[in-house]
Amino acid sequence: MRDHVAAATETYGQASTTIDQRVLVVDFGAQYAQLIARRVREANVFSEIVSREITAAEVKRRAPIGVILSGGPASVFAVGSYSIDPDIFGLGIPILGICYGHQLMAQALGGTVTETGKGEYGKAELSVTADGCLFEDLPRSQTVWMSHKDSVSAVPDGFVTLASSPEAEIAAMADESRGLFGVQFHPEVVHTPHGTAVIEKFLTAVCGSSQSWNHSSIIERSVAAIKETVGDERVICALSGGVDSSVAAALVQRAVGRQLTCIFVDNGLLRQGEGAQVESTFREHFDVDLVHVKAADRFVSALEGITDPETKRKIIGETFIRIFEEEAEKIEGASFLVQGTLYPDVIESGSESAALIKSHHNVGGLPDDMKFALVEPLRDLFKDEVRAVGSEIGLPDDIILRQPFPGPGLGVRIIGEVTAERLEILRAADVIVLEEIKAAGLYHDIWQSFGVLPAIKSVGVQGDFRTYAYPLILRAVTSEDAMTADFARIPYEVLERISSRVISEVEEINRVAYDISSKPPATIEWE
Ligand code: XMP
Repeated sequence: MRDHVAAATETYGQASTTIDQRVLVVDFGAQYAQLIARRVREANVFSEIVSREITAAEVKRRAPIGVILSGGPASVFAVGSYSIDPDIFGLGIPILGICYGHQLMAQALGGTVTETGKGEYGKAELSVTADGCLFEDLPRSQTVWMSHKDSVSAVPDGFVTLASSPEAEIAAMADESRGLFGVQFHPEVVHTPHGTAVIEKFLTAVCGSSQSWNHSSIIERSVAAIKETVGDERVICALSGGVDSSVAAALVQRAVGRQLTCIFVDNGLLRQGEGAQVESTFREHFDVDLVHVKAADRFVSALEGITDPETKRKIIGETFIRIFEEEAEKIEGASFLVQGTLYPDVIESGSESAALIKSHHNVGGLPDDMKFALVEPLRDLFKDEVRAVGSEIGLPDDIILRQPFPGPGLGVRIIGEVTAERLEILRAADVIVLEEIKAAGLYHDIWQSFGVLPAIKSVGVQGDFRTYAYPLILRAVTSEDAMTADFARIPYEVLERISSRVISEVEEINRVAYDISSKPPATIEWE
C-alpha cells in the first residue's frame, strides 16, 4: 500500500502540472488572496494561492505566466511586516502588485513608500494619466475601491505613474518593459467597477494568457489525472447526497467507471425522499456501482433515550464510521478513497496544493488504521467551480443547487429524543416548508430553510376539539458562508401558507413559530 501511495502522489503531481498556464497569487492576507484567485479563474486562467515565503527558485520551478501580490491588512512599516524574496522581481515573469503588494514592489525595487498619516478608505476617483496596457480602452476617470494608509511617493527606476487618486499620487505604476505593474486600489472587489477588466488586461495583454481554464477543461484534466492515479485499482466513495461528494463521485465514475463503488449510508435522518433521489440520480445518470445501506433502524436504536446534542452527534458519527468500515471491508482490493476536499480547505489547512493525494484522510473522522490513498478531485476548486463542473457533468440542479444539509441530518433538528415517530413528523412538516419556499421562488436566495421539532407541546383547538401537540419551529437564514447568518425576511404570505399547510396536513403539529435570531449569537441549526 505504501508504494502505491507514493506512486499515486507522483502521478497525480505530474498530472497537476499539465495545467499549462497558471498564475500564482502570493498571499499577504487570506481573504484578499482568495478573492483575487477567484477573479483570475473567472477570467478563465488557473490560479493558485501561494505563501508569501515562496522563493524565487520555487516560483521559477512552477513556471507561472504571471504573479499577483495580494493586498493585506498590515503596513509595510509595521514591525515584522511581510516581505517577499526580491529575486522574484528579476525572473522575467510579469507581476501585478495590489495595494500592499503595490507598496512592497515599490519598496523592493528602490521606490519610496511614505507614511502620509492620511488614509484613503472606500470609493475614490481614479484619474488615468498615462497610456498603458492595464487601462487600455477603459475610462480615463473611474471609481475604484481604496483601503490604504501608506502611499507610494516615488516610483522605482524604470517605472512610470499610470494613475492618481486624491490621496495617492501614484495609484498605479508600471515598468512595461519588465512586465511589472502596481495598483494601490483593489481591482478584485465589486466596488471597483472596471477592476475585473484591469485584472483581465494583466492576464491577457501582459501575461499572454490563452484563457483556456474552463469547466470542460477542468473535467478533462481531472478525469485524465484520476485515470492515471487509480490505474486498475478499486476506488470507494462515501456518497452523502451533498454537492461535493456527488461531484467528486461523478468525476471519478467518469474516469474509472465501474472500478468505483459508492457507499451511501442512509441513516434514516434524511429529508423526505432524499435517499431514493440520491440512489436514482446515481443509478440512472452514472451507471455507478452503488451500495445503498439502509441503516435507519441502527441509527434510531443507537439514539434511543439520548437527548444531549453533542452525544447525539457523536453517536451518529460513530455509527456512520462503523457501517462504512463494514461495507468498505466487503469491497475487495479497494485501495483508494474519494474525498470531496475543496480548495479553501486546502488553503486553510496550509497544505501543499501540488500533492493531490495523501495517505491520511479525515472523511467523517474515519480512523487512521483504514489505509487508503485519497483521490481528491475537487482539491483545486472553489465551491462555485464545483457546482459548474457538476452541472457540466450532468448532475441535476436538485443536487447541485441544494441548500446545505448537516451530516447528522434531522438528528440535530429534533430536540430531545430522536424516534422513528418524531422523524416522520418532522419529515412531513419539513417537506411542506421546502415546497412552499420553492413555490415562492425563494429557495436559491435563502442559505437554508427547514423545520425544527422541539420537545414541547402546546394547547390548540381544531374544529370542536382541543389539541395538545408539537409546534414546528421554522428556521430560514441568509448567509454567505455559514459563519454568520441573518434570519430570512420571508414575506408574511409565504409564512402564512407554510403555517396553515403544516398545521392542517401534519396532525401532530398545531402551531408554527418563526425563529428570528441571527448568527451570532444563535447558530443556524438548533443543536
Ligand atoms: P451552525 O449550526 O453551526 O451551522 O450555525 C453552520 C453550517 O454548518 C452546517 N452543519 C453541519 N454540516 N456536519 C455538516 O456537514 C455537521 O455536523 C454540521 N453541523 C452544522 C449547518 O447546516 C450550517 O450550514
